[in-house]
Amino acid sequence: MSDETYNARVVSRRDVHDSLMILRVGREHGDVPAFEPGQFSNLGLFEDGEDPRLLRRAFSIASPASARDHFEFYVQRVDHGAFTTRLWSLKPGDALWLDPLVYGHFTLADVPPQSDVLFVATGSGVGPFISMLREYHGKGRWKTAAVIHSARARPDLGYDEELTALASSSANFRYVPTLTRESEDSGWSGLRVRVQKLFEPELFRETFGRELTPENAKVFICGNPEMIVQLSAHLAECGFRPHRRKTPGHIHTERYW
Ligand SMILES: Cc1cc2nc3c(=O)[nH]c(=O)nc-3n(C[C@H](O)[C@H](O)[C@H](O)COP(=O)(O)OP(=O)(O)OC[C@H]3O[C@@H](n4cnc5c(N)ncnc54)[C@H](O)[C@@H]3O)c2cc1C
Ligand SMILES: NC(=O)c1ccc[n+]([C@@H]2O[C@H](COP(=O)([O-])OP(=O)(O)OC[C@H]3O[C@@H](n4cnc5c(N)ncnc54)[C@H](OP(=O)(O)O)[C@@H]3O)[C@@H](O)[C@H]2O)c1
Repeated sequence: MSDETYNARVVSRRDVHDSLMILRVGREHGDVPAFEPGQFSNLGLFEDGEDPRLLRRAFSIASPASARDHFEFYVQRVDHGAFTTRLWSLKPGDALWLDPLVYGHFTLADVPPQSDVLFVATGSGVGPFISMLREYHGKGRWKTAAVIHSARARPDLGYDEELTALASSSANFRYVPTLTRESEDSGWSGLRVRVQKLFEPELFRETFGRELTPENAKVFICGNPEMIVQLSAHLAECGFRPHRRKTPGHIHTERYW
């Protein structure tokens, strides 16, 4: 079979709202590839026209590594986006291309199990952390973990129910959503700050009940590239260094654009 033939189908889609969805994709034949939570794969759709090109985009896998009959993806539709506007017309059973390979080093491979792990996401960047939590939660993979999810408004917290339930049933997991454009009179009593603010000493201590130091935390940051640059710069001032395989550090990043 050619590398560029549709080889997968939409298993299901849940529209969180009109520009955000949870999409499950399964292979036409056999299991999805083995992967490590935090990795991504590519989806492809042919463009229209006489000699159509396969348009491909990367998406982080949100399902656990133990689920072998599908990959779950958490997808934001971008206004006028070449790929996501096409993706939005698919329904369960429709065909598309799924990369036979998985990619990326945004994983816990180099994180010792006694670590306090902070997962920081904007928008659809929470996807890889959902995979990590679904796979590792309750298995002693970290000392403590927290998801900080920044979104514009409450409907943009697509995994709110799952993360709230997980946090309420476990002593070593915190879920901290923060909404930056939620209307003032909506009744939202949670945080309303960009993530950098949360990493200022006073608010961090108030939220997590402890200090943030490179000795006690590994920080995973995913989503909006400007946020990654700005938060990494802030953390650098506190002694945090980017993690590289050859020069281990404290900050792991995954830029979506
Ligand atoms: C490693 C990796 C993993 C990714 N995982 C995901 C994922 O799990 N979910 C997901 O929705 N996207 C993810 N993306 C982004 C995705 O690959 C596409 O770039 C995105 O779907 C837009 O494609 P498009 O063709 O519709 O837009 P294009 O026409 O290519 O327009 C791109 C522009 O859209 C904006 N944009 C791109 N991605 C996003 C986003 N996620 N949220 C808000 N604005 C965005 C940026 O301004 C960017 O310049 C990932 C990207 C990378 C590199
Ligand atoms: N979500 C929606 O309601 C909506 C509506 C119309 C269109 N869209 C489409 O969706 C795309 C992206 O929407 P999105 O909400 O998923 O992603 P986003 O614009 O990246 O915003 C997600 C979260 O990241 C925060 N953020 C953005 N830049 C940051 C930075 N430099 N530092 C720290 N935090 C930062 C935002 O805060 P701020 O609010 O402070 O920026 C918000 O809380 C748009 O480009 C557009 O195509 C979405």
